[in-house]
Amino acid sequence: MVLIFLTGISLNHQEITERAILETTLEVCRATVQAAGEKFTLPTRPYTAESVARACDAAKSSKSFSQTIEYIQDKNVGIDKRYFLSARHHFDNEEFTKGKKLITSGLSAVKANNKRQNFQAARKTLGRLLHSLQDFYSHSNWVEMGETAPNTKLIKPGSLGKTAAKSRATCRSCNGDDCTNNILEDILRDKILTTGYFELVPGFSKPDGKCSHGGGFDRTSSTDPKGGINKDKTDSEHGHLHVKAANMAIAATRQVLEDIRRAAGDATFLQLMGINKGKALCFCIDTTGSMSDDIAAVRIVTSSIINSRVGTEDEPSAYILVPFNDPDFGPLTRTTDPEAFKRAINSLTATGGGDFPEMSLSGLRLALTGAPPGSDIFVFTDASAKDDYLLGAVLTLVERTKSVVNFMITGGLGFRRRRESNNTNDQQQQQPKAITKASSKVYSDLAQASGGLAIQTTKSQLLAATTIVTESSSSAQVLLLQAARSPGKSDNFTFTVDESVKNLTIFITGRSAAFTLISPSGVSQTSADLTGPLISSSQSLGNFQTLELTTQVGLWEIRLVSTNPYTLKVKGESSIDFLSDFLEVSEGPLGGFEVLENRPRAGANASLRVTVIGGVSAIVTEVFLVVSLTSERVNGSVESLGKGKFLARFDSIPSGEFVVLVKGQSTESSTTSSRATTSFQRQSSNSIRASAVTVSADDLEGVLEPGVPHFVPFSVLSNGSGGSFTIQATNDQGFTLSFPSTLPLTAGSRANGTVNITAPAGTASGTDVTLTIEANAPGGTDGNYVVLRLTVLIPVTDFTEPGCQLLSLQSNCSADCSASMWELSVEVTDG
Ligand SMILES: *[C@@H]1O[C@H](CO)[C@@H](O)[C@H](O)[C@H]1NC(C)=O
Ligand SMILES: *[C@@H]1O[C@H](CO)[C@@H](O)[C@H](O)[C@H]1NC(C)=O
Ligand SMILES: *[C@@H]1O[C@H](CO)[C@@H](O)[C@H](O)[C@H]1NC(C)=O
Ligand SMILES: *[C@@H]1O[C@H](CO)[C@@H](O)[C@H](O)[C@H]1NC(C)=O
Ligand SMILES: *[C@@H]1O[C@H](CO)[C@@H](O)[C@H](O)[C@H]1NC(C)=O
Ligand SMILES: *[C@@H]1O[C@H](CO)[C@@H](O)[C@H](O)[C@H]1NC(C)=O
Ligand SMILES: *[C@@H]1O[C@H](CO)[C@@H](O)[C@H](O)[C@H]1NC(C)=O
Ligand SMILES: *[C@@H]1O[C@H](CO)[C@@H](O)[C@H](O)[C@H]1NC(C)=O
Repeated sequence: MVLIFLTGISLNHQEITERAILETTLEVCRATVQAAGEKFTLPTRPYTAESVARACDAAKSSKSFSQTIEYIQDKNVGIDKRYFLSARHHFDNEEFTKGKKLITSGLSAVKANNKRQNFQAARKTLGRLLHSLQDFYSHSNWVEMGETAPNTKLIKPGSLGKTAAKSRATCRSCNGDDCTNNILEDILRDKILTTGYFELVPGFSKPDGKCSHGGGFDRTSSTDPKGGINKDKTDSEHGHLHVKAANMAIAATRQVLEDIRRAAGDATFLQLMGINKGKALCFCIDTTGSMSDDIAAVRIVTSSIINSRVGTEDEPSAYILVPFNDPDFGPLTRTTDPEAFKRAINSLTATGGGDFPEMSLSGLRLALTGAPPGSDIFVFTDASAKDDYLLGAVLTLVERTKSVVNFMITGGLGFRRRRESNNTNDQQQQQPKAITKASSKVYSDLAQASGGLAIQTTKSQLLAATTIVTESSSSAQVLLLQAARSPGKSDNFTFTVDESVKNLTIFITGRSAAFTLISPSGVSQTSADLTGPLISSSQSLGNFQTLELTTQVGLWEIRLVSTNPYTLKVKGESSIDFLSDFLEVSEGPLGGFEVLENRPRAGANASLRVTVIGGVSAIVTEVFLVVSLTSERVNGSVESLGKGKFLARFDSIPSGEFVVLVKGQSTESSTTSSRATTSFQRQSSNSIRASAVTVSADDLEGVLEPGVPHFVPFSVLSNGSGGSFTIQATNDQGFTLSFPSTLPLTAGSRANGTVNITAPAGTASGTDVTLTIEANAPGGTDGNYVVLRLTVLIPVTDFTEPGCQLLSLQSNCSADCSASMWELSVEVTDG
């Protein structure tokens, strides 16, 4: 089927997938809500991610639910882009066995990944397998055979049914206008499965007598038997059956989702869909000798988060702990049990770490690779980073995972030299450490890039500061504005507050930043007097202050005066937010766009897809790329793609770090009885960086077999400088890798390499491995990367169906069988 954003009557893969996910998720929520003894209210049709999330009693999850649906849809339509000519991915050319294998092995991988809570990997595989599953109904003659229900054998062991021999004719010629009866009668009568042949290249000859796929791209349909049988759209050769095939594809997709639900359980299924749990909570803690106060603060904060969030929508979906010391870091502890997490934190002790700095970035890197995307990560340390050469790699990970990293730093800023001491017991030394200016910048750059904060406080204020920062990480938080100035520079900032925004809070980090606030009605208040009319409460701790504002709709201004570096964030709680992804022009024959999974190309034109969440009536009017350090803006031209999606085109991407700013109009009826239209603005929290380097790789199978080397070809293209590019491949499972350490490139040229990755024999089936291949220009001035997710699967060698034979059955069931006594005996065998 064809990727089109806007459709008439035809249903495309995105719509089929979305409908099935919404319906199945609603069923699971009904069971969950009713099991809890609560009343379940079915939303009105058509269902949306927001209305389903609300019915699930998880309104705050609508962003992560929408994000999940969009990700699964993107992976689904990606098959048309990357595997356009791979017949089995589309059940073309009668490739039934190989097509079915893609579905069943994909389904095993999804289930295995769910067991290990590797939901992102599960979503990716799910999206891909759904494409083939859905294509079965529009590319085969299943519907023409008169079937009215999906072919359950696509997801179960056993044969799909009778399939046409290679030598058996299946179609007769028809002319383009009337191809409704071109499948041979005996094929339909004997219920023999066939699919259309498809080939782009003229001159390709299909086997004699076979049906063609048909449509504009297919060259086989012009040789006898002419015509086609696909039902991709209403105007396809068998378009009169499009609606039947599409509905069957929805039903089949729901069966797959039900199958996954049965294997995973309802709670896990909802987590897979991004519903009902908050972000993962991840603590990365320096455990060297001087950290005992910090660890004590972390214990208290952990207990408080667990006590206040368990059982709520903000309950962390997972808890992750990574200790680091010197020279060690890790291991990573990951649990969903809050009590187990408390025990892990309680067992931390502060020892060792003779000479600071410590391995903070190594610890953070482990946390970023082990935590699910979009986690909240808190790094506690009082020392500089010994391993700051990892900055580039960690920035890459921050961009890819969209996790937010907050640094809670309790070491003084300066160059204090550590006193030489004979005392080897560090715990008794307790001398304050110092952070170098360079490390302080590394920490604040990382925090800024991720949308987090770098807080420096004394050990005695740490608990209060950590409490504020963790409380502000609720899933309903949206960002209205963020900016940074380094070096410091006085500047004026404006932001629009809309009706939906509650609990408006300003966060400022930086020493002695003075400000003047001006409300939409023109009232002003300065930092000299925090008790005025605009600020309802404020707190100042170390380099960090928060101001809670009285909510007033309209355009606010804040004038900041400082010569020191500072960051400014304006946050609130709201249901209106957005998702955005850069797109790249697809190299496949279908054209169109694909989601870009690495850094966009510096200086080039670009397209950004923006999806509005939480406001069915919200429209995007302007999209800007805003350079964080200067607030310089690039204005995009916006066009609507329908269904809350917009496309913004930019002539040229700014160089340096930037964020996305979206402005729009929303019709809100929640607070007032009148439906007033208000302007809103939102910013992305994660920063984006453009690059003149492109790294690409094809993970054709995405599957590793334990003990067997797997080769991933990749290619590096430089549009900037030439020279010897440094190659770095890493994976999060510690699997053996080999790759070229450098690749020679001349400006504007491409070079190829191969990564050899081997999962050790004995690796569990379903283990998900993230492979990142990075290429850095000479001098490390620019770089880019590609991220691949591979799944370890032990090949299935047992193809015999298990047998189940009824030996005896006794029951006295006459009227109500469910209240009767049954006795039966069966024999289950598996060769
Ligand atoms: C901020 O606004 C004030 C008042 O309009 C103005 O005097 C000042 O120059 C502005 N500062 C900057 C950096 O634009
Ligand atoms: C938001 O504000 C309401 C009252 O306006 C308050 O009850 C609630 O605790 C606040 N939420 C947060 C996270 O501060
Ligand atoms: C860049 O501009 C060209 C020409 O207008 C267009 O075809 C292409 O789609 C644009 N690329 C992106 C990524 O938007
Ligand atoms: C951005 O571009 C749009 C047209 O695409 C225009 O309406 C709008 O005024 C521009 N905004 C700014 C701030 O230049
Ligand atoms: C290379 O960069 C220049 C500007 O820096 C740009 O005009 C050109 O389109 C780029 N080429 C590619 C292939 O990205
Ligand atoms: C690199 O690989 C691509 C295909 O992936 C191929 O088209 C290209 O010719 C190769 N380039 C070199 C320099 O080997
Ligand atoms: C790939 O890696 C494996 C395991 O390290 C090694 O045994 C094998 O020789 C490598 N193959 C190539 C072609 O480098
Ligand atoms: C069916 O058999 C069970 C157990 O033998 C008995 O308790 C029950 O009353 C019987 N029901 C009927 C309708 O005979």
